[in-house]
Amino acid sequence: MNYVGEIVGVGSFIPPKAVTNFDLEKLLNTSDEWIQQRTGIVKRHWVEKNVSTSDLAYEASLEAIKNAGIDKSEIDMIIFATLSPDHDFPGTGCFLQDKLEIPGITVLDIRQQCSGFIYGLSIADKFIRTGDHKNILLVGAEIHSKGLDKTPEGRDVSVLFGDGAGAVVISRREKTSDDQSQIISTALHADGSYAKELWLPGPGNAFEDDRCTLAMIEEGLHYPKMNGRNVFIHAVKRMAETLTTTLKKNNVTIDDVDLFLFHQANIRINEKVAEVMGIPAEKIFNTIHDYGNTTAATIPIGMSDALKAGKLKKGMTVGMAAFGSGFTWASGLLKY
Ligand SMILES: CC(C)(COP(=O)(O)OP(=O)(O)OC[C@H]1O[C@@H](n2cnc3c(N)ncnc32)[C@H](O)[C@@H]1OP(=O)(O)O)[C@@H](O)C(=O)NCCC(=O)NCCS
Repeated sequence: MNYVGEIVGVGSFIPPKAVTNFDLEKLLNTSDEWIQQRTGIVKRHWVEKNVSTSDLAYEASLEAIKNAGIDKSEIDMIIFATLSPDHDFPGTGCFLQDKLEIPGITVLDIRQQCSGFIYGLSIADKFIRTGDHKNILLVGAEIHSKGLDKTPEGRDVSVLFGDGAGAVVISRREKTSDDQSQIISTALHADGSYAKELWLPGPGNAFEDDRCTLAMIEEGLHYPKMNGRNVFIHAVKRMAETLTTTLKKNNVTIDDVDLFLFHQANIRINEKVAEVMGIPAEKIFNTIHDYGNTTAATIPIGMSDALKAGKLKKGMTVGMAAFGSGFTWASGLLKY
């Protein structure tokens, strides 16, 4: 039997507290004008103190499962993409599984940062195509706000990131035609020689002594470090490259694609990718102005918002591309 994976339910959850650029002006020696001009971000959302990454994921998952029209007991695998886990171990997927009360099923955490959702989609697709699994819950969830340097020293990074979660349910379907709703193709890439261009150094076992020390914290090694310009250049190049390859491989032109869901790190990155590839602006669904960069949650949040806005409909051809820390990058093509 030949199987394909179809996205049958989508959900998202954005914590209610909005943090505007004007709010950040009070903390970070920055300005609304600088942030909007350089990134396109107007606001992002930050969690309240008592909320964890798996809490956000739980809300998004419930919505995705409800929209899939199945019972949570029918889920047989969770794939959880995050760079901001509840705890170092076990993986946040286990905490989510406990909240969903679906013990015994397969749970897999993945660490591909901003490319995490497309990596997860590709993994889910493979588990489905083998016939092993039937209903996979793929979640991307992040709480950045608890890990940012909220002093002027951290302003280059801290203005960019927001909290949120997005989830999809991917169900196994018998393959009947090339035109049916399905994950058509994914491509996954990484180049670890750039690992330190965007990273969180500590705590970690690459340090000489204990993995977490007071000195490390005093040095601020527990805050993300980024070479923004280099990330920008590589993001444009790699997103355009992988998406072009995926489209060509499947004999699909830009005209054939109804909607592009790109990772949301900087509106100028997406504008450049569109320019390089000749994609009309109206085909790209951007959310960065509202949420900032929500890393692994970005694409499923975009999918959820696009559905709610009537921009994504059953039967549409969707192109996806993402780039992030690692460096990792990925693209995907699906018939929604
Ligand atoms: C971070 C980023 C927005 C910076 O934009 P940029 O145009 O490259 O800006 P630069 O880094 O050259 O900095 C320009 C100036 O703005 C200043 N600046 C940096 N952050 C600032 C902030 N939040 N507010 C005000 N000024 C800021 C810099 O200090 C610099 O000042 P100087 O010229 O006096 O030295 C941009 O490089 C970027 O988006 N990179 C990709 C980031 C990304 O995608 N990360 C996630 C990947 S998934």
